[in-house]
Amino acid sequence: ASLKEFNTFGIDVKAKKFISVDTVEELKEVLKQTYAEELFILGGGSNMLLTTDVNKTVLHINLKGRKIISETGNEVLVKACAGENWHQFVLWTLKQELGGLENLSLIPGNVGTAPIQNIGAYGVELKDVFEECEAVNIQTLEKRSFSKAETEFDYRNSIFKTSLKGQFIITSVTFRLTRNEHILRTSYGAIKNALDQKKILSAKIKDISDAVIAIRQEKLPDPKLLGNSGSFFKNPVIDQEEFTRLQKEFPEIPSYPVDPGKIKIPAGWLIEKAGLKGYREGDAGVHKNQALVLVNYGNATGREILQLSQKIQQEVKEKFGVELEPEVNIF
Ligand code: EPU
Repeated sequence: ASLKEFNTFGIDVKAKKFISVDTVEELKEVLKQTYAEELFILGGGSNMLLTTDVNKTVLHINLKGRKIISETGNEVLVKACAGENWHQFVLWTLKQELGGLENLSLIPGNVGTAPIQNIGAYGVELKDVFEECEAVNIQTLEKRSFSKAETEFDYRNSIFKTSLKGQFIITSVTFRLTRNEHILRTSYGAIKNALDQKKILSAKIKDISDAVIAIRQEKLPDPKLLGNSGSFFKNPVIDQEEFTRLQKEFPEIPSYPVDPGKIKIPAGWLIEKAGLKGYREGDAGVHKNQALVLVNYGNATGREILQLSQKIQQEVKEKFGVELEPEVNIF
């Protein structure tokens, strides 16, 4: 079976076997019958680069369903199954007039994979609205829930990418949303500009979602039209000393303080200044509007995208002395 339709990079590799599960029971049945090493778990396929055929059983998590599970005052708990499309779920919460997910509009992928890398955009991270998630242990089939503390969320990171990598399949996520008094996050420059332009003075959650959708559509390629996996690299975090050194040479370098003595710099800026924005090798390219996004113009192989990413890492390292770390999972 070809996986082209199941990864947003649109890479045409084959899977030995492909199984889609619609319920937790079906999932457990498959886990019972298959060795963990034999399995390749596939969610929305929006954060991975496949560089070779998958000589395993690809397990597509297709669990559906979403509902409000409790409401107390301003606080609403909403549970969604892992196979729900992320953006469709966000739109559904907005339709219920629930606040919390508006800044995370239009992120590709599914609900179940969102916690793994603690998705984030425009001033909000998944961890800000996360209550808990349920998961099944691939080896023991045990069901377990993870509280926010147990997930060890960090910038584009969680326990599911570190010590528990490959050990659990997330089956549902519960979010803590708001009913009336919403916490609006409009400080991100691009959101502010979009609201100002439309002369919106007191923004509603829907206005923020609309603004985020417009910003993303302007900068980020639609994976349905041009294969990509969003940001290919993480924004590097460097020491103050190193930053001071860089700033001397490149006074216009953008930066955001994170922890004391730690500075985050935008990888997109580094790649652009290395002269690689819009660069193309065959069908593998650096997006023309957002240098942090690598794109597949049609028939690029995973290896070609990987080679391009390595070239970028090399040139950024040479010019700035900064190491870029991939954000997407490379198989
Ligand atoms: N920049 C450039 N050139 C570029 C791209 C960016 O100079 O080609 C500069 C911009 O001018 C700006 C800064 O970099 O000063 C930040 O750019 P932007 O707001 O586009 O965000 P980003 O840091 O490139 C991160 C996330 C995105 C998320 C946006 C908005 C990471 C790895 N990426 O990108 O997440 O949508 O912020 O919050 O943290 C994703 O993870 O797939 C993703 C798209």
